[in-house]
Amino acid sequence: MINYILRPALETEAAQIKKLINLVGINPTGLDWKRFIVAVNDDRRVIGCGQIKPHGADIRELASIAVDPAYQGNGIARAVMDQLLSTIPRPVYLMCVSTMEGLYIKFGFKAIPYEAMPRYFQRISNVFRIADVIRHSGEELLVMKME
Ligand SMILES: CC(C)(COP(=O)(O)OP(=O)(O)OC[C@H]1O[C@@H](n2cnc3c(N)ncnc32)[C@H](O)[C@@H]1OP(=O)(O)O)[C@@H](O)C(=O)NCCC(=O)NCCS
Repeated sequence: MINYILRPALETEAAQIKKLINLVGINPTGLDWKRFIVAVNDDRRVIGCGQIKPHGADIRELASIAVDPAYQGNGIARAVMDQLLSTIPRPVYLMCVSTMEGLYIKFGFKAIPYEAMPRYFQRISNVFRIADVIRHSGEELLVMKME
């Protein structure tokens, strides 16, 4: 059983958040500590995090969901997401690679087609598609929505 608390991030934890995001290898941009919820262990180390990013008035994105690999599989991501999603109005969007779809389906998110995406996510999808032509990874970027 892992002991940790969940709370809004402190300014002094900004560097730890960046380090955790880099450690798990997800989008390192837009990491404003003020928007983050963190899971902190008994040693006051940030072992999990997540944020809601606003993109204009009614567009909200669940983002930067990360848990230190040494602590994964203990329900920490679920706790972070439950806390973030408990306070914000719907709809909420997120972007993920298709291999992560199963995780977010569990929370009630559904992948949406290009035509249904707000313009912000269409733009990112376009950039991802162009980059993938160069990368040849074949990995798909999904935009998912929770009503
Ligand atoms: C994905 C990640 C955040 C999960 O963290 P975690 O603390 O291990 O997750 P939890 O233990 O809270 O699991 C929550 C649920 O998601 C499920 N889950 C976790 N990883 C999953 C995956 N890759 N695919 C599908 N389901 C997954 C768990 O089985 C669990 O389901 P349950 O509650 O029904 O048992 C963590 O593995 C991570 O940091 N990965 C690297 C960064 C990343 O990919 N983030 C997502 C960016 S889109």
